[in-house]
Amino acid sequence: MSSVTTTHAPKGLEGVVATSSKICFIDGDRGVLAYRGIDIHELADHSNFEETCYLLWYGKLPTRQELRQLHERLAEERKLDASVITLLRNAPREALPMDVLRTAVSALSFYDPDEKTNDHNANVAKAIRLTSQIAMIVALYDRVRKGKPLVEPDRSLSHAANFLLLLNGTKPSGTAERALDIALILHADHELNASTFAARVTAATLSDMHSAITSAIGALKGPLHGGANEAVFRILETIASSRTNPVEHVKGMLAQKKKIPGFGHRVYHTEDPRATHLRGMSRDLGQSSGQPKWFEMSQDIEAFVKAEKKLNANVDFYSASTYHVLGIDVDLFTPIFAVSRISGWAAHVIEQLDDNRLIRPRAEYLGPQYPAPYVPMDQR
Ligand SMILES: CC(C)(COP(=O)(O)OP(=O)(O)OC[C@H]1O[C@@H](n2cnc3c(N)ncnc32)[C@H](O)[C@@H]1OP(=O)(O)O)[C@@H](O)C(=O)NCCC(=O)NCCS
Repeated sequence: MSSVTTTHAPKGLEGVVATSSKICFIDGDRGVLAYRGIDIHELADHSNFEETCYLLWYGKLPTRQELRQLHERLAEERKLDASVITLLRNAPREALPMDVLRTAVSALSFYDPDEKTNDHNANVAKAIRLTSQIAMIVALYDRVRKGKPLVEPDRSLSHAANFLLLLNGTKPSGTAERALDIALILHADHELNASTFAARVTAATLSDMHSAITSAIGALKGPLHGGANEAVFRILETIASSRTNPVEHVKGMLAQKKKIPGFGHRVYHTEDPRATHLRGMSRDLGQSSGQPKWFEMSQDIEAFVKAEKKLNANVDFYSASTYHVLGIDVDLFTPIFAVSRISGWAAHVIEQLDDNRLIRPRAEYLGPQYPAPYVPMDQR
C-alpha cells in the first residue's frame, strides 16, 4: 500500500468502522442499543447502574455475590483526597462544573494507588474508583460553589442515591433515585461516540486511564455531543421566560439555520431507544412534581421538528426536562452524563489495552502541491 494518501475521508468519519469491540451493539435502522448483547430496554426495566457497570467491565451479568462485592468496592472508593476537595474549593466561583470535573479527574491520578500500573486488573480498579469519584466531584463541587457544607456518602445506598444525597444533602425519594438510576443506565455506553473514541485514542498510546478519561470529558463537553442536554434546557427556559410559543421559537431557530439541540443522530435513522425511556420519565416526573410544562413544551417541539425536518429526538432532548424536574441545575446536566458514561469509557479503555495497537489513521492531503518553494523572509 502506498504511504501517500489518495482516498477521500468521509467528513466526520461517517460510516467508518474504526475498531472492533465486544461492548456495545447499535442497529441505527431498527433503533436497537444493547450492552454486551442485552437490550437497553431490558436493562432500563430490570437492572440498576451498578449491575450495568459490572456487565460493561466484566462482559457478563454478575451473580448476587459479585454484585454485592461491586457495591462494597464502589462504597470503599467513595472518597476524595483532601487535595482534590481543596482544588474544588479553589476553583473560580463561576467555573463551569464540566471544566472543574475535567481538571479534577486529571488531578485524581496524583492520588491513585495504581497510578503507575496500566494492566487489566489495575484498570478495572481505576474504573471502579473513577466511577465513585466522578459522581462525588460533580455533587460536591455544586455544594462548594453554593457555600453549602459537604455531605458524607452512605454505604447502604445505591450509586444513584448517593449522588443525590451528596448533591442535595438529603436522602432522595425512591422515585428520584430510580429515575436517576435509569438515566445512568441509558447513558452508560454508546459504542464509538466522540468521547469514547477520544478515550480509546489516548489509551492506545499506552498513556493511562486518567489521561484517557480526561480526553473523553473534554470531548463530551461540546454541544454536538453531551453538551446538547444543557443547550436543550436553555431553550426551554428561554421559551418559558419569554412566554413564546415553543413551535414559533424553534421555527425561528430553523429560519436562522440554527440546529435544534436534542435532535438528530449520526447513527440512528429512527427513534433513539434511550429517548423512548426518557420521554416517559420526563412526562411522569413532570406530572408527579407538579411541573408538567417542561414536558408539554418538549412534546410540542418534538412533534414540530419531526414533521418539519424529519429529525427524531435523541438522548439529550428529554433528559433535559427530566433532570430539571429532579431539581438539578442546568450546568450539571452534562457532568451527570459523565457520571454515567465513565462506566462505558472505562470499559473501552480496558478493552483497548487488553489488545492494543496504536490508533494512528491518515489524513487526505489537500494543501499546496509538494514541493512548494521556501520563500526567504525578505522576498515574501
Ligand atoms: C448529532 C449531530 C451532530 C449528528 O450530525 P451529523 O451526522 O454530522 O449530521 P449533520 O450535522 O451533517 O446534519 C445533516 C443534516 O441534518 C440537519 N440537522 C441535523 N441535526 C439537526 C438539528 N438538530 N437541527 C436542525 N437540523 C439538523 C443538518 O443541518 C444537515 O442539513 P443539511 O444537509 O441541509 O445541511 C446533529 O444531528 C446535531 O448537531 N444535533 C444537535 C446536537 C445534539 O443533539 N447532539 C447530541 C447528539 S446525541
